Amino acid sequence: MKALKHTILALGILAAFPACAQVYVTVDAAKPGPVINKNVYGQFAEHLGTGIYEGLWVGPQSKIPNTKGWRNDVVGALKELKVPLVRWPGGCFADEYHWRDGIGDRGKRPVKVNTHWGGVPENNAVGTHEFFDLVEMLGAEAYVNGNLGSGTPQEMAEWIEYMTADGKSTLAELRRKNGRDKPFKVHYFGIGNEAWGCGGNMKPEYYANLYNHYATFLKAPNGARPKMVASGGNDADTRWTEVLSKEAARGTDGISYHYYTLPTGVWEKKGAATGFDESQWFSTVANTMKIDQYIRNNVAVLDKNDPEKKIGFYVDEWGTWYDVEPGTNPGFLFQRNTLRDAVVAALNFNIFHDHAERVRMTNIAQMVNVLQAMIITDKDKMLLTPTYHAYRMYVPFQDATSLPVAVTNDVPYKHGDKSVPGISASAARGKDGKMYVALVNTNPGKASDVVLNVAGGNVSGASGQVLTAEAMDAHNTFERPQAIKPVSYSARAENGKLTLKVPAKAVMVVAVES
Ligand code: AHR
Repeated sequence: MKALKHTILALGILAAFPACAQVYVTVDAAKPGPVINKNVYGQFAEHLGTGIYEGLWVGPQSKIPNTKGWRNDVVGALKELKVPLVRWPGGCFADEYHWRDGIGDRGKRPVKVNTHWGGVPENNAVGTHEFFDLVEMLGAEAYVNGNLGSGTPQEMAEWIEYMTADGKSTLAELRRKNGRDKPFKVHYFGIGNEAWGCGGNMKPEYYANLYNHYATFLKAPNGARPKMVASGGNDADTRWTEVLSKEAARGTDGISYHYYTLPTGVWEKKGAATGFDESQWFSTVANTMKIDQYIRNNVAVLDKNDPEKKIGFYVDEWGTWYDVEPGTNPGFLFQRNTLRDAVVAALNFNIFHDHAERVRMTNIAQMVNVLQAMIITDKDKMLLTPTYHAYRMYVPFQDATSLPVAVTNDVPYKHGDKSVPGISASAARGKDGKMYVALVNTNPGKASDVVLNVAGGNVSGASGQVLTAEAMDAHNTFERPQAIKPVSYSARAENGKLTLKVPAKAVMVVAVES
């Protein structure tokens, strides 16, 4: 009986710690690839739900500590991410936004209905000047998205003039009267958003004509013209990239693209943010990894039509999109954020690095309180999500030089009759000269031993952080705000062999020592 008990116990332990697969990850440091543009780690803040109002902006009179109306706690946390770029004011909201509503005395600004997101009043407290206060506090670049859907070329041209004109101009004087002497630095300007849908339900050919029409009138002083972004397609589509790269290429810096990860892949019933089973863990991972092929297909079109590689492929909206949290306004797109979201974020980063030559900007949707957010707030409280931690761990990859990585002997993560790669890997030489390696274990039930090699070199050890948890849907709450956070990890080479123990369902980023 005693022996049987021991056997059962041993089997139990084995089940809890299943044998580790040994996977080989080899980095070729001698063949540096393209630089991973820091703007791959860009953010998106739309006038949607509590994404801006409450989540970021509380106004200068608020009891919540703030600077020029922006919450100190949230801005402080975002600074840790070295947010390189913020896209604003939408999204679908952009094509209903009239910039003149958001300048001048805040008390006198018109109150509109945010028809797209919840039908709530939009008091325009956050407008152009406030947005630039935020990006300047963050030290980020500004990506302003213009209104093509319900605006005019004149309105768009005048917004650019208002923001960028120096010297004598009535609009520059108006900006000065509103408190800003020097022009704002607009790094990127989007000409419409999702023109195939909320931006006007257009065909790509029609949008291409409009794009050229509007772009003709967008003028700015020498050196101040923003990089122009044409609004492209989504999901598996390549037609928008095809048409725009032929018809709207002149003076275009990038074509945008959107891809959202839904556990079920079905918009009517997307799947829950928490309390999901392994089949939805698997399908979320599998669905998010589809972006690799989608990017590949679009890049092939660009390579054909733009062999000089002038045009970037900007994934300016991406992330998880679940059923809204029960009891919340469906138009506010509020969802919880779990370990699964961190794994999704890291898988996408690794894919973006692989396409660094064309993918020069991405913007996760969205920064605070909306969809796959970095931060969740409730009145004066704030918590950091697992996605936030993934962004923080990957900071060394901003403007790093990508390095080729080969994964061999991978043990695919199988679920039913389907499978995805078990280990996703990425490597780069950081601006500090160190080599960084990022690993994601997609398998929620099996740890993995990763043997790390650097072709033609030695590795003596590695140190960094790992993010994991017991539960697939581990998440932080206001009661337990530190329930999931990264912990330090380091390993030393033994007999010239460096083995990194990557837990099940985990994200690991390490600096490699030679
Ligand atoms: O991010 C939420 C919405 O998703 C954006 O407003 C829109 O562009 C997309 O459909």
